[in-house]
Amino acid sequence: MTTEDILRLALDMAGLTEVPADTAIYCPGKGIRRVLAGIDLEGAELIVAKDRGFDLALTHHPAGGAAVLHMDRVFVRHVELMVRAGVPEEAARRAVADKSFEDRITGQTRNYERLPALARLLGIAYMNIHTPLDEIGRRRMAEAAGELSADARVADLVAHFRDRFGEFRHAVSAIQCPVGDLRSRLGRVAVAHGAGTNGGYPVAKAYFDHGVDTVIYIHVSPAVVRKLTEEYEGTGKNLLVTGHIASDSLGINPFLAALREKGLEIVPLGLVPAEPQGP
Ligand SMILES: [Fe+2]
Ligand SMILES: [Fe+2]
Repeated sequence: MTTEDILRLALDMAGLTEVPADTAIYCPGKGIRRVLAGIDLEGAELIVAKDRGFDLALTHHPAGGAAVLHMDRVFVRHVELMVRAGVPEEAARRAVADKSFEDRITGQTRNYERLPALARLLGIAYMNIHTPLDEIGRRRMAEAAGELSADARVADLVAHFRDRFGEFRHAVSAIQCPVGDLRSRLGRVAVAHGAGTNGGYPVAKAYFDHGVDTVIYIHVSPAVVRKLTEEYEGTGKNLLVTGHIASDSLGINPFLAALREKGLEIVPLGLVPAEPQGP
């Protein structure tokens, strides 16, 4: 397979027609057979990959080139997700405005050539696939959440996620409910994932203020938890945080399984497995 074929497969699996701004081939390759796959494959991992005879280092998080410069173009996916959940478009746009502005400005600080240049020097194919794999993970979580009734408790959703997905059972991290209460009614659920990064305070607020009772992020900052708790304590609103690496793995693993089916040898590095690993 070529790096292009691999990217195309990810887009197809995610139901996307265009390459998102946070996804790129830094150093193209063809005839790829052995792939090292991880969430953050950077300098050290590139050297190890080359040293151990891999043809491609396939990383999840954006690692260079234009993929690290335009995170604002991916963050607006939150708007689409909010609108689908019933948030009026104008309120949804307002909720992403500050962060999009910040991303546009801070993109300029990135040393975007460091890792692509290293991959070229080493002579190893190098690419990242971010939003398409997060979209796969988002759909899996949304589908599982849709299997519970609105009258279930938040704790029931945590149990259901663990039941459905080995990634959550095998992760060292736990699913947390830092805003609201595990005993609360689940109500309407929105999985706010697959949009570059979590939506912070304004996106969670927009969901809460427009009929969503339980918002799911894969990670969140303490400052956002404090602010949301202050505002929504005792209102029945909940923020469920599923854990970064477990949740990223949830979207990455089905894609790696599809690559294996195409005959590639895939070695995962630092992913949470869907199935228990042997000794
Ligand atoms: Fe991710
Ligand atoms: Fe991530």
